[in-house]
Amino acid sequence: MIRINENYQKLQASYLFADIARRVREFQAQNPGREIIRLGIGDVTRALPPACIAAMHQAVDELASETTFRGYGPEQGYDFLREAIAEHDFRARGAEIAADEVFVSDGAKCDTGNIQEIFAADARVAVPDPVYPVYVDTNVMAGRTGTASDGRYPGLTYLECNAANGYVPRLPDQPVDLIYLCFPNNPTGATASRAQLQAWVDYARAHRALILFDAAYEAFIRDPALPHSIYEIPGAREVAIEFRSYSKTAGFTGVRCAYTVVPKSCLAWDAEGKAVELHALWNRRHTTKFNGVSYPVQRAAAAVYSPAGQIQVRELIDGYLKNAAYIREALGGLGFQCTGGDDSPYIWVNTGRDSWEFFDLLLQRAGVVCTPGAGFGRCGQGHVRISAFNSFDNVRTAMDRISAALK
Ligand code: MLT
Repeated sequence: MIRINENYQKLQASYLFADIARRVREFQAQNPGREIIRLGIGDVTRALPPACIAAMHQAVDELASETTFRGYGPEQGYDFLREAIAEHDFRARGAEIAADEVFVSDGAKCDTGNIQEIFAADARVAVPDPVYPVYVDTNVMAGRTGTASDGRYPGLTYLECNAANGYVPRLPDQPVDLIYLCFPNNPTGATASRAQLQAWVDYARAHRALILFDAAYEAFIRDPALPHSIYEIPGAREVAIEFRSYSKTAGFTGVRCAYTVVPKSCLAWDAEGKAVELHALWNRRHTTKFNGVSYPVQRAAAAVYSPAGQIQVRELIDGYLKNAAYIREALGGLGFQCTGGDDSPYIWVNTGRDSWEFFDLLLQRAGVVCTPGAGFGRCGQGHVRISAFNSFDNVRTAMDRISAALK
């Protein structure tokens, strides 16, 4: 008799964004005439930068001729893209990352979810609260937790993020091995300073822990004082893996391209206490389970680093940041305490009431979809996340409707 992985029984019935999509579908079925504005899941709405489109077209044409055709590419990504990433995203900012430390993939969701399988089953895991649910659910699937009660899984260390600590967690007061950090943060939109990241890097070095640093929203940083990469922090090369994505940076949510950096100096220890390079383990995992991102998509990603691509991507993100500023201002004007939205596409709103109730209220009275904070963890209760990914017109209409609905 084939048995299931019992750990899956510990999960909530459906993934947060799938649950929200179902509720919105049901609402639409009951209210067929209502026009819905989606400020829920962080899915981009603007067209791809023309430089990416041109590069993709050219790559497709290359596939049409036997002389330039390409079959399987290197699992880790083509050199042209890995070199561009290492140069523009890291070395240009003073972070020493080599091209062969970059693993190109089809998404930061997949990578942040998959990375945990190279670590021990009994690794002690710390996650922020509120948290991007992928970090938690994938560790539940792997059996690193007990069964949840009151919204929390025994076996995980929750790092509370709230207005009092500026949504940057304090160091844990119990030992942990793996630490998930995300800045600019999903869902709160908060950012971390160099000094705050330095404290985490120092902690990881002192405790032989490892930081899994999700920087998927890095391109939204406009404050020149903020670090864009954990590798800008001295000592991070030994204790941090970083995840990046073109999804929000260049509108690739449907195109799929991302990457993970595993420095060769990043170590973990085997049962005998011998140090092992995580780069070798991730390379083994990647080459076994992944066959690379398609050639046209990697060419499109590389075009992000061209002079035209850089200008276009900045314009794209500036558009979403304009939305974010508008949302924050409008909700602040309605008396809500908000964070995020300056260097991030997310605005975290303290609603002062149950977050699913507030979600329903916005959907039913305003026809606006947000994400209930409680879906991101216990500390998210009482909040909602509003995403700036939409057209400015839709954002303005959504804010007018919310304002009218709450009067
Ligand atoms: C979000 O809305 O949190 C993100 O779009 C989810 C994701 O990137 O997987």
